[in-house]
Amino acid sequence: MEAFTFYNPTKLIFGKDQIEQLPKQLPQHTKKVLVVYGGGSIKKNGVFDQVMEQLNKAEVEVLELSGVEPNPKLSTVHEGVKICKEEGVDFLLAVGGGSVIDCTKTIATGAKYDGDAWDLVTREATPTDAVPFGTVLTLAATGSEMNAGSVITNWETNEKYGWGYPPFTNPKFSILDPQYTVSVPRDQTIYGIVDMMTHLFEQYFHTPTQSPVQDEMIEGVLRTVIDTAPKLLEDLESYEHRETILYSGTVALNGMLQMGYRGDWASHNIEHAVSAVYDIPHAGGLAILFPNWMKHNLHVNEDRFVQLATKVFGVEADGKSKEQIAEEGIQALRTFWTSLGAPETLRDYDISDEKFDVIVDRAMKRGPFGNFNKLHAEDVEKILEMSK
Ligand code: NZQ
Ligand code: ZN
Repeated sequence: MEAFTFYNPTKLIFGKDQIEQLPKQLPQHTKKVLVVYGGGSIKKNGVFDQVMEQLNKAEVEVLELSGVEPNPKLSTVHEGVKICKEEGVDFLLAVGGGSVIDCTKTIATGAKYDGDAWDLVTREATPTDAVPFGTVLTLAATGSEMNAGSVITNWETNEKYGWGYPPFTNPKFSILDPQYTVSVPRDQTIYGIVDMMTHLFEQYFHTPTQSPVQDEMIEGVLRTVIDTAPKLLEDLESYEHRETILYSGTVALNGMLQMGYRGDWASHNIEHAVSAVYDIPHAGGLAILFPNWMKHNLHVNEDRFVQLATKVFGVEADGKSKEQIAEEGIQALRTFWTSLGAPETLRDYDISDEKFDVIVDRAMKRGPFGNFNKLHAEDVEKILEMSK
C-alpha cells in the first residue's frame, strides 16, 4: 500500500422516507436555497413535491434552476453561478442524478470565484470557498453523492473534464432513498450498473500489490452487483434490488475502496473525451471502451486479470495458461454487459473513426494518463480502433 489519508465529510443518510431529515440538515440560519434539478423526472415521480414540502417546513426561501442536462454543460453552470451571485443564495440542493450533482458542485465553487468557473474545471484556478450544498440522489451510478468529483462539458470547445477540490466540492449531506430510484428507466438503470462496475474495476487495476483487504472488498461488491443486476432488470420496481444497487454505487466511489493506491482511471479519461465530442451516455461509452482497455493492458500484469477472472467471474483455472484465464474473464465481462443490454461498439451510437483524432487530442490534454499503465496517444488510438 501507499501512504494515505482518508477523509470524507459527507453525511450519508440512507433509507426509506429519509427526506424527512432534510430540514434539520440545512446549516443554521439558511435563508435562501437554490434547488438544482434536471429535465423533469423529479416532477413526474413526486420527489420534487416531497423536497418542497420539507423546504417549506424549514421556512427557507426557495429558488430553482431546472434543465441540467445529462453530461452537464458549462452554460448551465454559468446560469447557476449568476443566480447565486445575484440572489445571495446561501445553500444549494441538488436533486437528481450525477449530472445534477456535478453541475451543483461547480456552481457552488463558481459562485465564490471571481473569474469564469471553467478555470476551476481546467484547474487553471483553485477554489478558495464555496456555497455549501447537499444532495437528494435519484439515480444509482456515479458516486458523486459522496465524493468530490464533478464532470463538466464545454460544448464550445468540445472538452469534458472531471475535477474536484475537497472539501469545497464535497456535499455536506446526501439523502438516498431507494424508493426515489424505482422510476429510473431500464436504459439508465443499465448505465448506472455499468458505471459503478467500471468504478470498481478502475480501482482494482492498480500497481501496489499489498492490498488484500481492498481486493476482497471490491470483489465482493462486484459479485453482489453481478448477482443483483439481472434480478433488478427483471423487476425494476423491486425495492430490495434498488436498495442494493444504490448502496453499491455509493461505496464504489466514495473513497472507501481506494485507500492505499490511486486506481487506473484511463478508461474514464478516454470516455470523457468521447462524450465531449459525441453526446453519449457516460456508461454507454464505458461499456464499449473498458473491455478493450483490458485487452490492451492484459500483459501489464496478467496476475491481476487472472485474480479478477477467477474470483469475480468464476473462470475455471485448471489446465489453462494465465493468458487464457485472463481472456476468459474479459469475455465474461463483455458477455455479462451484453446480457444486460449495454452497447458493445461505437457503431451502436453511429460513431465512426472520422473524429478519432479529435478524441485522442482531447484525451491527451491531460498528458499521458492511467496509473496501472501510462497511455500515450497511440494507445488511445488503438483502444478506439478496437472499439469501432
Ligand atoms: O434530467 P432528468 O429529467 O432528471 O432525467 C435524468 C436523466 O435524463 C434521468 N433520471 C435521473 N433520476 C431519475 C431519472 N429518470 C427517472 N427517474 C429517476 N429517479 O436519468 C438521466 C441521466 O441522468 P444523469 O444524472 O445524467 O446520470 P448519471 O447519474 O449517470 O450521471 C452521469 C454524469 O456523471 C458524470 C458523467 O460523466 C456524466 O456527466 N460522472 C460523474 C462522476 C463523479 N462526479 O464522481 C464519476 C462518473 O464516472 C461520471 O464521469
Ligand atoms: Zn463513471
